[in-house]
Amino acid sequence: MRAATAHHQPVLAAAVVELLRPCLDGLIVDGTAGLGGHTTALLTAGAQRMLALDLDPEAARLLSERMRAEARVRVLHASFADLGAHVPAGGAAGVVLDLGVSSLQLDTAARGFSFRLDGPIDMRFDPTSGAPAAQIVNRMPEPELAALLRTLGEERRARAVARRIAAARPLHSTAALARVVAGAFAGRQRRHPATRTFQALRMAANAELETLRQGLDAARLALRGGGRLAAIAFHSLEDREVKQTFNAWAGAGLGRVVTRRPIRPERAETQSNPRARSARLRGFEVDSGVDPHPNHLPRREWGPEEPSGWDASHAPDHLPRRERGPEEPTGWDASHAPDHLPRRERGSQEPRGSRGPSELRGSNGSRESRGPRGPGES
Ligand SMILES: C[S@@+](CC[C@H](N)C(=O)[O-])C[C@H]1O[C@@H](n2cnc3c(N)ncnc32)[C@H](O)[C@@H]1O
Repeated sequence: MRAATAHHQPVLAAAVVELLRPCLDGLIVDGTAGLGGHTTALLTAGAQRMLALDLDPEAARLLSERMRAEARVRVLHASFADLGAHVPAGGAAGVVLDLGVSSLQLDTAARGFSFRLDGPIDMRFDPTSGAPAAQIVNRMPEPELAALLRTLGEERRARAVARRIAAARPLHSTAALARVVAGAFAGRQRRHPATRTFQALRMAANAELETLRQGLDAARLALRGGGRLAAIAFHSLEDREVKQTFNAWAGAGLGRVVTRRPIRPERAETQSNPRARSARLRGFEVDSGVDPHPNHLPRREWGPEEPSGWDASHAPDHLPRRERGPEEPTGWDASHAPDHLPRRERGSQEPRGSRGPSELRGSNGSRESRGPRGPGES
């Protein structure tokens, strides 16, 4: 199977290792382990113990096989948003988050991430949970779809793309979707015209911004004093979330931002790995002896940096309430919402990604159900 041999070049691996070097003596969590590029780089640098998480069960299975002989690593099929269920508060020395999609996922047509391959319109990191992106493509009302493409894809022709998609419904394959989107553009484009639409749909299908918010908070609470969080973003909205969150933490006296400016890949890296082009790495170090739950943490808002054209009343239902302003109706009947949309939008407070007992894959790839784990249990 192609997936089993897929290779993923880790982005900014040397910079991540340098950022987390002071943490190598404690537990390091790779919250987006994928094929293990950053995990391997950190182990090579001398990491003592690692917990590798991935929301994609296939990625977790493959990594678990790869790491079978590596006693320092435990691999889990889990979301980084649920990190707190696997690591006690203060139990981690370092956390790395390398956001987005892996080469393995992009190169597997059946996962539906790629507009260059023909597959179902799925795009879920965890295909065993939630609803595929096809639900958004085929069911979301055109105005909401346009808002979603504009917001999450920063697609300037969002209305034209949404109009074409709505007219072509139902759409079942990524190739058909890519063709329909391309029809909204005249002339040659620098990038494939479906790039931004696919990005927006992937982010929506996985509720990526909300999950990132939960994951950043979970990572900070898991870190010990002096512990560090390294986050690599590939999208301006993600990077803004990381930046604003780190600044808010620093402002609340929880620690310091260790990257004055985001670290960008060198030219040599982007030449050998085009995926690295838009990468930005930021780091935060938690102070020792601070109250991890201060009541003066400022509320993070999009504020003046909101993407232009954003109209809160058109926000897709899965975006957190604070982005939608008051409880005004969205025009999108929530009964059309994909099942995986955050519970709080559906009446309960349970955060997305909470799965109850963790599914743990041991070194033999088996699934076991276990309670929260301490760092010493790796
Ligand atoms: C860019 S890849 C990481 C590649 C990895 N750093 C490497 O070097 O091989 C991002 C990975 O994050 C995973 N992912 C996305 N959202 C996640 C989440 N909420 N929790 C855990 N993993 C997630 C994806 O399944 C994907 O495998």
